[in-house]
Amino acid sequence: MSRAVCPGSFDPVTHGHLDIVRRASRLFDEVVVAIGVNKSKSRLFEPDERIAMLERACAPFDNVRVDGFTGLLTTYCAEHDVQAIVKGLRAVSDFDYELQMAQMNDSLTGVDTVFLPTSPEFSFVSSSLVKEVATFGGDVSAFVPDFVHTALLERLAARRKAGEA
Ligand code: PNS
Repeated sequence: MSRAVCPGSFDPVTHGHLDIVRRASRLFDEVVVAIGVNKSKSRLFEPDERIAMLERACAPFDNVRVDGFTGLLTTYCAEHDVQAIVKGLRAVSDFDYELQMAQMNDSLTGVDTVFLPTSPEFSFVSSSLVKEVATFGGDVSAFVPDFVHTALLERLAARRKAGEA
C-alpha cells in the first residue's frame, strides 16, 4: 500500500492546500495530512484547532486522514511507513527552499518528495497572505472553506479586542 504525507502548518487551511490534498489522494492509496505543531512558532490557531479544521475539510476524501507531528518530518515518515512527501509548488520562489528541504529529507532517511504544481487559481494563495489581508479587512472568503473563514474572522476580532483591552 502506498502512503504519502501532505505536511504543513495549515494556519489556517486554504483551498490551495485542499487542492493538493485532493490530488494527492488520487495518486496514493492513503494520504496523511501531517500538521507540524512545533511549539516555538506562534500561530493564530492552536494545534488542536488546526487538526479539527483539517479533519472537517478533508471529510469528503475517503483515503485521507489527519495527524499532528512534532520534531522532524522524516522521523514521522519513518515511524508511519510513509513513502512520499507531497508538496505543492506555487511559483519559482517556492522552489529553492522546497528543493533544499526535499534533498535534506532524502539525505536523512531516503524519503522522496513529490511536487505538484499548484492549480493556477490558487497560485497566489497562502495562509500568511490570507491572514494579513483578513487582518486589514480584506475579503478572503474565496480562499478558505466557509467554516474556516468564520473561525478566522472570530479569532482576528478576539485578538483585536484583547489588544484594545
Ligand atoms: O506550511 P509550512 O509552514 O510551509 O510547513 C512547513 C513544514 C511543517 C512542512 C516544515 O517546516 C517541516 O517539515 N517541519 C518539520 C521539521 C523538519 O522536519 N525540519 C527539517 C526540514 S528539511
